[in-house]
Amino acid sequence: MDRPLTTEIPGAAHRFPQIELVNVWKRFGEKEQETVAVHKVDLAIAPGEFVTLVGPSGCGKSTLFNMIAGLLPPDPDGSILLSGKPQQDGALLGKVSFMPQRDLLFPWRSVLDNATIALEVEGMSRRDARAKAEALFPEFGLKGFEKHYPHQLSGGMRQRVALMRTFLFERDLILLDEPFGALDALTRAMMQRWLLDIWARHWRTVLFITHDIDEAIFLGDRVVVMTARPGSIKCIETISLPRPRDASIVTSPEFMDIKRKLLAVIEEESMKSFAMEISA
Ligand SMILES: Nc1ncnc2c1ncn2[C@@H]1O[C@H](COP(=O)(O)OP(=O)(O)O)[C@@H](O)[C@H]1O
Ligand SMILES: [Mg+2]
Repeated sequence: MDRPLTTEIPGAAHRFPQIELVNVWKRFGEKEQETVAVHKVDLAIAPGEFVTLVGPSGCGKSTLFNMIAGLLPPDPDGSILLSGKPQQDGALLGKVSFMPQRDLLFPWRSVLDNATIALEVEGMSRRDARAKAEALFPEFGLKGFEKHYPHQLSGGMRQRVALMRTFLFERDLILLDEPFGALDALTRAMMQRWLLDIWARHWRTVLFITHDIDEAIFLGDRVVVMTARPGSIKCIETISLPRPRDASIVTSPEFMDIKRKLLAVIEEESMKSFAMEISA
């Protein structure tokens, strides 16, 4: 049974959310060993939305993504719906594009052959996959690097190859798990602006994990703040900063107000998370 739109989503013109999490839980281990990684998460994301997810390390963000990508079953308490349709037993596998937190490129494959992997796994011929990928190289700032190998690229370029691979796998929903986490601040800022540009042109729904609050506000239509473990949703902030957004927006009073508010919430959760770690 399809579910109608139950959660109010800013700007939602569609009947169903792109993705909806209803009472999603994930527990690992049993009895005394049990870890509750994800706790009662309810979240609906509209088609075309860019939602960022922030929370202390270890609060279950990657676990949540693994469930949405169909790699890990949620506990039976709740459900995940894609365009209104409930997804059971690994049904989500292959239905969303997913860039995992440690998305390693294969060092023995050229940039072009790294970009085409997902298409080849899907059964596309290598020739067709290469033609499709080659068309995206200019947009991803990689023109001329098709035959290079990952070790010959800068950190920013390697992340763009991984992102290109994710975009080439043409699904409406894209999950990006801390894609810019390892980059220096300047490269990161450049990549953020570039990603917004790509997103505006490709019309996809993006769910983006970060531990950087500026990044979360700068990119997002909404910022979802998670609690310390067991991860649940602490609050959701709608970011009505105008788009397109340029670098100067991060020093605007509106941006600062949002940041101040979110920092207070995140600080509280990070302290809890820290206390948990040092008492473990
Ligand atoms: N496969 C697993 N088995 C047992 N515990 C796990 C597993 N995956 C994650 N966890 C635990 O669940 C919690 C959340 O992990 P994770 O989702 O990676 O957090 P985050 O991405 O927010 O840093 C952590 O305590 C982690 O140790
Ligand atoms: Mg993680």
